Amino acid sequence: MTWKNPVDRWGAISQLLHWSIVVLLTAIAVLGLYMVDLPNSPDKIKLYSLHKSLGLTLLGLLLLRIGWRVYAGAPHPVAGTPAWQERIATATHAAMYVLMFALPVSGWVLNSAAGYPLQWFGLFNLPRIVANDAELHELAESLHEAGFWLLLALVLAHAGAAFYHHLFQHDATLTRMLPRRRAPPSDAPENRHVV
Ligand code: HEM
Ligand code: HEM
Repeated sequence: MTWKNPVDRWGAISQLLHWSIVVLLTAIAVLGLYMVDLPNSPDKIKLYSLHKSLGLTLLGLLLLRIGWRVYAGAPHPVAGTPAWQERIATATHAAMYVLMFALPVSGWVLNSAAGYPLQWFGLFNLPRIVANDAELHELAESLHEAGFWLLLALVLAHAGAAFYHHLFQHDATLTRMLPRRRAPPSDAPENRHVV
């Protein structure tokens, strides 16, 4: 198993960070969309707290991921991918990084501007990053929501492109972000040679 990124595929740490962020982001988004329409109740407050704690966890994982990306680099582009596709992919990845950062930060701003407390899974308090401000609260809330829909659109295009490469271009774009399949045992039929 490779930890750093070799030239032809993503290493184990990059894969772990990519896929755990996919799972976490899905949970945060489903929770966010569900909780806002609930009538006021203690359960609603608990779900809001969970949403915020998971969102802050994502922010931490994202910082780790960016640090690891700078340290471990990226594999070379998949052979045969046209330069224009590479450019679109790079721009999409950059935009997704920016939005993954902007969403928790706008959430933190809207929470602070409304004067709500912020805790991480009830374990410790986080500071307010802005003072009470109704206008800023509205603005941050709109950005939080619009940013989410924009991220969703990019993610759908990104995942669609990965599956397109796999199913129609038959290249390694998708498989190099997945764990390597175990090599078959040396006496498996595909390894027997006719002498
Ligand atoms: C990547 C992380 C995050 C994602 C993807 C996300 C996503 C969402 C979504 C989809 C909504 C529902 C928007 C709507 O339909 O009105 C929402 C609402 C909300 N989020 Fe987040 N969120 C994230 C992080 C955070 C964080 C870290 C906080 C607070 C520190 C936060 C605070 C809130 C609050 C207070 C609302 C409710 C706003 C309202 O009542 O209209 N979010 N979020
Ligand atoms: C089912 C959903 C997804 C699939 C199939 C998928 C697949 C992939 C693949 C195959 C790569 C490597 C591309 C290459 O080697 O050139 C990649 C990279 C990347 N993915 Fe995803 N992905 C998914 C969801 C997401 C989500 C939800 C996000 C974040 C919002 C995301 C953010 C990224 C980023 C930023 C990169 C670039 C990594 C870098 O260059 O640092 N992906 N994804």
